[in-house]
Amino acid sequence: MPAERAHHVGSWLLRLLFAMPVVSWLLRRALRPRGSIQVMGLDFPGPLGVAAGFDKDARMFDALLGLGFSFVEVGTLTPRPQPGNPRPRMFRLPADRALLNRLGFNNGGVEAALPRLRRRRRGIVGVNIGKNKDTLDVDAASDYAACARMVAPYADYVVVNVSSPNTPGLRALQTTKALRPILVATRAALDAAVTRRVPLLCKIAPDLTDDELDAIVDLAIEVGLSGLIATNTTISRDGLTSDVSALGAGGISGAPLKARALDVLRRLRTRAPELVLISVGGIETREDVAARLAAGADLLEAYTGFVYGGPLYPSRLQKRPFPHRGQAPPSHRPEIAR
Ligand code: FNR
Repeated sequence: MPAERAHHVGSWLLRLLFAMPVVSWLLRRALRPRGSIQVMGLDFPGPLGVAAGFDKDARMFDALLGLGFSFVEVGTLTPRPQPGNPRPRMFRLPADRALLNRLGFNNGGVEAALPRLRRRRRGIVGVNIGKNKDTLDVDAASDYAACARMVAPYADYVVVNVSSPNTPGLRALQTTKALRPILVATRAALDAAVTRRVPLLCKIAPDLTDDELDAIVDLAIEVGLSGLIATNTTISRDGLTSDVSALGAGGISGAPLKARALDVLRRLRTRAPELVLISVGGIETREDVAARLAAGADLLEAYTGFVYGGPLYPSRLQKRPFPHRGQAPPSHRPEIAR
């Protein structure tokens, strides 16, 4: 089955399963994470959540939480609906335990997702926001601000996504000059929308240089971000054994991203002891989770590891709490209850 159709069939089955009250109750009980981690003023039951892109339109976060993920980041949502790139636009690379995608922010628009976000009864849900493909870069800040204003009442945290390789020019917004007005406008939109201070994070690419990473950390602190999410998919094809030459453009996720995501995390943690860091990219095993926590991650997210790991992946990774104390300064480490 083509990868994108498999995703939709799997999602539909999962929602069906969790629509049955008794089955849902039993699964939730059996699979729930059993820790407690305080980050950004929220009480997470474990460190591992679902990365953005899996539940783009906020249709299945409840089922994903039921499988044992500790939180779900829905989106990327854009102000207006958009179809994304022509299919096929998502490919499995099983020999590399990786995916290649160029979906291009296909989503039904932020407004359509609001009723579903409003109906949430439990669990922690963050919302990842982006700009429409046809919005000029100079107008990007108003796209992000518009999304932020709408999702503020329903989001446990909000993420400015400037790192997808599949929207032309988007990653160019990661320069300090382009990013500052976006982050300032988004922060202001959240503060104007609700009295609660909604944590705001920015999601960055793995393909930035060390100097660019340092500049983003400094900017994050300057504008009062809660933290950073690292990383999105990579445009690099290094280290792949699959022949991807015929598949075209797109971002690579999964195992080939593992080493780079860890390097980026270490770099960010060294420069920013005070920021919340959510590490994403190539997390497959409990050892991977432990390594990220030890390198200073507060929380983790995964997409591709779940695709290859199957429905028991979240509970396998975090049914038992993590004893690792990490190397980050104590004030910025997650508190892990045993
Ligand atoms: C993604 N990712 C992504 N990220 C984002 O911020 N917004 C999005 O809409 C999407 N969409 C998306 C679709 C598909 C098919 C994939 C595979 C990935 C990136 C994702 O959240 C994550 O950052 C990377 O995939 C790296 O993590 P994994 O997959 O190696 O665990």
